[in-house]
Amino acid sequence: MTTEASAEPTRRDFLYIATGAVAGVGAIAAAWPFVTQMNPDASTIAAGAPIEVDLTPVAEGQDIKVFWRGKPIYILNRTKKQIEEAKSVDVSSLPDPQTDAARTKEGHEQWLVVVGICTHLGCIPMAYAGNYDGFFCPCHGSQYDSSGRIRQGPAPANLPVPPYTFVSDTKIQIG
Ligand code: FES
Repeated sequence: MTTEASAEPTRRDFLYIATGAVAGVGAIAAAWPFVTQMNPDASTIAAGAPIEVDLTPVAEGQDIKVFWRGKPIYILNRTKKQIEEAKSVDVSSLPDPQTDAARTKEGHEQWLVVVGICTHLGCIPMAYAGNYDGFFCPCHGSQYDSSGRIRQGPAPANLPVPPYTFVSDTKIQIG
């Protein structure tokens, strides 16, 4: 296949280039705050390859964020208080009823892994925040509990749990 390119960029070419540059800067800015532990190279990750995450550096009461399939993933090492709160909820009273056990892995209940995108309009909620010791979305005030379940505000559903498995006690594979 051959393509003839004109030597002089047209105005439309310029707009494409400018738009691409702005999008690139935006993507870098958005990615900057996140701690990433990506094993394959970035293009492979972008294509949806599974990633492994070492949990060793995450102390109780802390979290890390990684990117998987272009989405921010929160990994929380929950405190005992958070786990107790998550388990003691009357599930039938929840807007999107789900047990904590259904959202965590047996034997690894301290770990919560959720997609960090608010189910209302897609903002990134803050972890360890809000009235339910879980997540708070600053955009319109949705409150998620320590299991990532929606408890208050306009968001209609829980933060999704991505597919993941424990490959050892201190390492998970997402995807
Ligand atoms: S996007 Fe989170 S509450 Fe609206």
